Amino acid sequence: MGDIDTKEKFEEKRLVLAQREWKRLTANGSKECRACHDYNQMDFDKMSIMAQMQMKNAAQLNTPCIECHKGIAHKLPEIKQQKSPELTKLIASAKNEKIGVNQVGYNVLAQPIYADSAMKERIGTLEVATAVKVLETTKDADKVELSLWRKSKGFSRVWYEKFGLNVVSAVFEKEFAQNKDNFTVMDTKEDPLTGLGWEHVKTDVWVKKGDLTSSSDGLWDVAKASFNTSCSVCHRPPAVDHFDTNTWPGIFSGMVGFTNMDNDTQKLVLKYLQFHSSDFDSDKRH
Ligand code: HEC
Ligand code: HEC
Ligand code: HEC
Repeated sequence: MGDIDTKEKFEEKRLVLAQREWKRLTANGSKECRACHDYNQMDFDKMSIMAQMQMKNAAQLNTPCIECHKGIAHKLPEIKQQKSPELTKLIASAKNEKIGVNQVGYNVLAQPIYADSAMKERIGTLEVATAVKVLETTKDADKVELSLWRKSKGFSRVWYEKFGLNVVSAVFEKEFAQNKDNFTVMDTKEDPLTGLGWEHVKTDVWVKKGDLTSSSDGLWDVAKASFNTSCSVCHRPPAVDHFDTNTWPGIFSGMVGFTNMDNDTQKLVLKYLQFHSSDFDSDKRH
């Protein structure tokens, strides 16, 4: 067409070109693919279970191949990460929210955790959407209580939201996590599934003011919309409660590279999936 005369310009435009082809191959039922391998010539019994499950159904519905198979003959174009405008809006509105003493807040993005109100000594990271109770507040910082779980074995730097579930809420520096003076162990319990010991731990820490919101609903709305948009590009998005909390991270990390979600959105969407998995029935949801 005369507008692409360098490799760089080609790479820059690949996604647009690919989307145009995907549209064409959807509209014509993926005619070109089927010139070489059509549904009526497939021997389903010789396929992998995964291929059989998806493609017997697709053959019945005569679904265009391209709906599921992108990046076959050509490698997938690089997809640039994009900040979710909805998440950006939520982060901005949290700046004006006031979470009072003894109220619970959820952080709208991952942020540093400090040992002191001057926020000089960084001891870890608070992951997105973690519930914290505000204990004290100054002009710039909030002192919050973390009530979380950790595995007894190892350095136990990673603290989880709930017993037995790998939903990451905070990650501490090794020095902090190793020193028992830094937290109180409320309870210990063995996970019957893995035989691992877990500790219910509490500690008071400082975070920068302005990143907490009073309800997790807004966060889940953003996550749900992002999941439904990004994960429906190639196939119907899977039902969130089709997998359990500890299975979602593996599935998600295998797929998220196909999407244009930026890091903050990815973390939020994964947490949404974990908290709305088959481990949570609808009236006990977080
Ligand atoms: C010119 C004939 C031809 C056309 C057109 C064609 N294929 Fe293929 N395809 C093949 C052959 C031959 C193989 C086996 C290649 C091999 O084993 O190295 C193959 C392999 C595959 C595989 C399995 C290998 C892999 O990379 O996962 C998939 C999936 C596939 N094709 C999908 C498609 C889709 C989707 C289209 C249309 C966009 C398409 N094919 C168009 C001939 C064709
Ligand atoms: C609903 C989604 C879907 C549609 C539509 C679909 N496929 Fe597939 N296909 C899959 C999945 C899932 C696999 C398995 C991939 C895997 O095992 O990693 C697969 C595997 C394949 C394979 C490898 C089969 C094997 O295991 O030996 C070929 C070839 C293939 N598809 C071609 C096509 C062609 C050609 C069309 C259109 C006529 C098509 N597919 C339409 C989902 C789909
Ligand atoms: C660029 C296309 C594409 C996008 C975008 C995409 N997927 Fe997939 N997905 C596939 C293909 C192809 C398969 C089947 C082959 C495979 O397993 O690699 C699949 C399979 C799956 C499966 C079934 C695999 C299993 O282990 O049971 C799940 C669940 C899934 N995707 C979830 C997601 C989620 C969640 C997202 C959004 C983060 C997403 N997908 C985005 C192409 C995509």
